[in-house]
Amino acid sequence: MTGWSKIAIIGAGNIGGTLAQRLAEADVSEELVLVDIVEGLPQGKALDIQESAPIVGFSTRIWGSTKLSDIAQSDLVVLTAGLARKPGMSRSDLLGKNAQILKAHAEAIRDHAPRALVLVVTNPVDVMAYYVRKVTGFPRERVVAESGTLDSTRFRWFVAEALGVAPRDVVGFVMGTHGDTMVPILSHCSVNGVPVTRLLPPEKLRAIVERTRKGGGEIVDLLKMGSAYYAPAAAQAEMAIAMARGQNRLLSASVLLNGEFGLRDVYLGVPVVLGRTGLVRVQEIDLTPEERTALETSAKAVRTDLSVLESLAL
Ligand code: LAC
Repeated sequence: MTGWSKIAIIGAGNIGGTLAQRLAEADVSEELVLVDIVEGLPQGKALDIQESAPIVGFSTRIWGSTKLSDIAQSDLVVLTAGLARKPGMSRSDLLGKNAQILKAHAEAIRDHAPRALVLVVTNPVDVMAYYVRKVTGFPRERVVAESGTLDSTRFRWFVAEALGVAPRDVVGFVMGTHGDTMVPILSHCSVNGVPVTRLLPPEKLRAIVERTRKGGGEIVDLLKMGSAYYAPAAAQAEMAIAMARGQNRLLSASVLLNGEFGLRDVYLGVPVVLGRTGLVRVQEIDLTPEERTALETSAKAVRTDLSVLESLAL
């Protein structure tokens, strides 16, 4: 299985552009359209990426548009549009404005790409995914959100750095919301099977958990304008490629829970299998009592934001 016929990315900012490059280079779709409201931006970035094809060697045809209807017939639509954080802001501070922006995008998906899978990236991502699923009316299998893959790659890097081992040999994941109450899962983090709890002292592990929770903020503070996009785009590409190629990867992603981990009617990062149909299944795993409590706290934080969303009556 080689991939799809068409991917649409809405939002041609730093995330959208970087993701377009990664997906074009991965050659997972015949066509990739980058959509943005700023005339010239999606067309310019698309053409720039396209012109690298003879050197890089990909065949994907990439083009830009300012028309939402150009997402028609897409197999996957990635929603990246919206405001990013400035120093001192939480992801939840973006809620009202970004929900307004995503409303039109979700309606466009429902009307023009009714069979598409949707990958939501816009923050606060767990709340935005809930909203997009509601507006589209799609089954939960077709609306998944990034969070765990990004937080997990940060977590894995910090462990790899502390141990001086190859980053890819560190496996593990982060659950919960993409925010300060996320839950890096130490009990299932290992270096190719050797538990990290046996390799690093508790205080070092605590510091890694803290740094992971604030990973996005650390970049926002360094950049001073805008937020991270290289690691986020890598994480989104990992999810998109898993679906396009039907890889059935076990990854952490935010999905609508339906009783798994004792939670329902909330989007939260959990281990899932991602494949050709989107969410293939939620993979329940054993958690320590502390991790379970932390996951419940994380769910509460998302529910608080969901009630804010509700009160906006969009
Ligand atoms: C981050 C933003 C993109 O974590 O949420 O970098």
